[in-house]
Amino acid sequence: MIEGTPRGLFITLEGGDGSGKSTQSALLLEWLESLGRTVVTSREPGGTDLGTELREIILHRRGYIAPRAEALLYAADRAHNIATKVRPALERGEIVLQDRYLDSSVAYQGAGRVLDATEVRNLSLWAAEGLLPDLTILLDLDETIGRTRLDSARTKYDRLEDEKQDFHARVRDGYLVLAKAEPERFLVIPATDSIDSIAAQIRDRISTLF
Ligand code: TYD
Repeated sequence: MIEGTPRGLFITLEGGDGSGKSTQSALLLEWLESLGRTVVTSREPGGTDLGTELREIILHRRGYIAPRAEALLYAADRAHNIATKVRPALERGEIVLQDRYLDSSVAYQGAGRVLDATEVRNLSLWAAEGLLPDLTILLDLDETIGRTRLDSARTKYDRLEDEKQDFHARVRDGYLVLAKAEPERFLVIPATDSIDSIAAQIRDRISTLF
C-alpha cells in the first residue's frame, strides 16, 4: 500500500471523455458488492455537496475561467472530497471507487491547458494531503473516437468536452506519460476492447490487491 493511504482500497478510474468509465465503474461496483465488500463511490468534480456546487461552476459557468483558477477549483473540490468522504471511508476499511482524481488534473490542466505538470500534481497532493490511489485504471482512447462516442450520446457539451481536438489529444498523451511513470499504480486498458473484456481485465488486477 502506498504511503499515506490508510486501510481500505482506493481505486480511481481515468480516461478521456467518452472512454466508458461510467459503464466500467457500474460493473466494478456490482462485482465488488457481490464479493461482500462495502464500496463507497465518488467522483470529481462533484463527489460532495460542496463539490456539486463547484462542479456547476467548473463545467457549466459561461465565459472564460483562467487555467490556474480552473486548476484551483478542481483542487478545492478534491480537498473537500478527500477529507470528508474518501479518507473516512478508507479508515473504515472500505473500498472507494472514484471516477477521476488527481491524474485528471495533471492530464487536463497540465497537458491540456499547458500548465506545469509537476506544479499541478503538487497542488493536488497538497489538497489531498498526499493521498495516492492504490490502483488507477486508465481507459485509453484515441480522442477522435472519444469525440464520435460523445457525439452519439449527447447534444450539449460541458466546458471541457467543448475543447478542440488538439486539447483532447494532449490530454490523452498526458495520461500515457503518467501511466508510464507509475506502472505499478496504473492499469492501462484500450477503451476499444469489448465491455466484457475490459471488466475482466479490471477484475483480474483488483483480485491481486485483496
Ligand atoms: P464529467 O462529466 O465528470 O466527465 P466524465 O463523464 O468524462 O468523467 O466531467 C468532468 C470533466 O472535468 C471532464 O471533462 C474532465 C474534467 N476534469 C479536469 O479537467 N480536471 C480534473 O481535475 C477533473 C477531476 C476533471
